[in-house]
Amino acid sequence: MRTLTGIQPSGTLHIGNYFGAMLPAIQAQNRGECFYFIADYHSMTSLTDPAERRKNSRSVALDWLACGLDPKHSVFWKQSDVPEVCELTWILGTLTPMGLLERAHSYKDKTAKGIPANFGLFAYPVLMAADILLYDSERVPVGKDQKQHVEMTRDIAIKFNQAYGETFVVPESEIREGVATVPGLDGQKMSKSYGNTIDIFGEEKSTRKKIMGIVMDSRTPAEPKPDAEKNVAVQLLHLVAPAEVAADYEARLRAGGLGYGDLKKALFEHYWNYFALYRAKRTELAANADYVDQVLADGARRARDVAADVVQRARQACGLT
Ligand code: ADP
Ligand code: TRP
Repeated sequence: MRTLTGIQPSGTLHIGNYFGAMLPAIQAQNRGECFYFIADYHSMTSLTDPAERRKNSRSVALDWLACGLDPKHSVFWKQSDVPEVCELTWILGTLTPMGLLERAHSYKDKTAKGIPANFGLFAYPVLMAADILLYDSERVPVGKDQKQHVEMTRDIAIKFNQAYGETFVVPESEIREGVATVPGLDGQKMSKSYGNTIDIFGEEKSTRKKIMGIVMDSRTPAEPKPDAEKNVAVQLLHLVAPAEVAADYEARLRAGGLGYGDLKKALFEHYWNYFALYRAKRTELAANADYVDQVLADGARRARDVAADVVQRARQACGLT
């Protein structure tokens, strides 16, 4: 079973990225081959500062390695180090109906927010399909927001296979119930673009402040809260605290008697402990710049070996050879 996923270096990674995409990806290392990459070409659709892209790419690499990506087991690289993906994007693009791309939620959301509609933004799902198909991926762990993109990848692969003969593996997305959409501080989906994130490796003081600042309703601590499971702090506590601890806080909130301040304090403490070992590992890795460069260079070489074969297969199928 080959698992693949990518994360854009478009900002600092948050616990929505961690629970939605990274944790399932890291756990998948026990069940077969894993291909994980930093989607720097994709980040060009939203970020135009080269220094920022370089800094974020390095930071995302450190985050993955600190959180348990094992480069001996997994292939880990930077997307742009394997430019074959651009050739495959073109090939796939010639079979991708305009209507399919016009229906993409992420494209519609971004243009609705006023992001100028350029070709890259519109073609984003084709590049993502190329990422996935280039490595014969079978499973793609992502958050729910990316489900449609993986479905588009399936459509494109099937279309290609019908037009040119069996060439690509048709992949499946892997979306975990319970973490499909991690809520942000304001209750909306946690996202870099909404400014409602808790970073995986946030600084202690400012993260505590963010968590203590979560806005709650005006019910008194004594009042029972029959809707306790909808509380953002409770939902996040279920991710970072042991199951019985989170269940106990939820039950106390429901019954009445637990104040929001105490709940938020508990959330901060459990968040902080959950990532403590990873934080230490990250500090250690950050002190060794060569190591990260070497991991990515080695990953690019291994990824490229696979990519070269698959692109050749695609070229052959469509008569480019
Ligand atoms: P953002 O919305 O912050 O820009 P990305 O789009 O870069 O995040 O997401 C990278 C990965 O993390 C994707 O697989 C995405 O589905 C997952 N992800 C992002 N936010 C969340 C969330 N709030 N809950 C679950 N998964 C998420
Ligand atoms: N589009 C994904 C996101 O924003 C990132 C990504 C790019 C990706 N290529 C991929 C995810 C391939 C999974 C597989 O989150």
